[in-house]
Amino acid sequence: MTSDIRNYNLVSKLFHWGSAVLILGMIVVGLMMEDMEGPEKFELMGLHKSFGALLLFIVIARILNRFLNPVDDLPEMTAKNIKLAKMGHGLLYLCMLIMPISGILMSQSGGHAVSMFGWELPTLVGKEHDFHEFTEGVHGVTANVLILLILGHAGAAIYHHIFMKDRTLLRMGLRKL
Ligand code: HEM
Ligand code: HEM
Repeated sequence: MTSDIRNYNLVSKLFHWGSAVLILGMIVVGLMMEDMEGPEKFELMGLHKSFGALLLFIVIARILNRFLNPVDDLPEMTAKNIKLAKMGHGLLYLCMLIMPISGILMSQSGGHAVSMFGWELPTLVGKEHDFHEFTEGVHGVTANVLILLILGHAGAAIYHHIFMKDRTLLRMGLRKL
């Protein structure tokens, strides 16, 4: 049986929607932490760090899966829009990698261990003030870029569905086309 590579397969769909939920949760929790103090902040930060470290592994697996299960370009899309969508997806992948990596490096260079639900990650950098400041900046700036990209990306998907009435959103849907 040959598969229809115009559609995302189930693994790709589960990766997409699973990581979308986790990333949106990470952004909400990250922004909430900014206005908090005391033990609650550190409890939430522990969860943010565990889920964030988990996301690094999920995103790496997702990128590998993307190369193993490619999809065709949609024939109804113009060459310019295909290019734009691919650029957007590339930037989303880049931000999805930079966020957990900068988070881990920021914590470790600040002198804090990172554990993923109790399992401590190897130390990649020791305590280092300047590098901590740098990675903290990267984490904050990339978070804002990621939020803008997600808004544009979700907006484009909804625009395709409602106004262009094409298969763009449906082929990422959990129902079989
Ligand atoms: C996809 C993964 C991640 C996303 C989307 C994310 C998102 C965010 C956001 C939106 C903020 C608030 C922005 C700011 O404070 O400037 C934040 C703060 C923070 N994140 Fe993450 N994060 C991720 C992964 C991680 C990881 C893996 C760690 C550590 C192991 C981490 C540690 C922190 C810490 C310590 C803060 C507070 C920084 C501060 O108060 O300046 N994050 N994160
Ligand atoms: C955290 C949020 C999200 C992230 C990080 C994200 C990321 C991505 C990435 C990287 C791709 C490219 C997949 C590939 O490699 O081909 C993609 C595809 C897609 N996403 Fe998202 N996404 C998010 C949320 C959403 C939301 C909320 C929607 C719908 C409203 C959506 C709709 C789609 C659709 C329809 C595609 C397929 C596009 C196509 O076939 O050209 N995504 N997403």
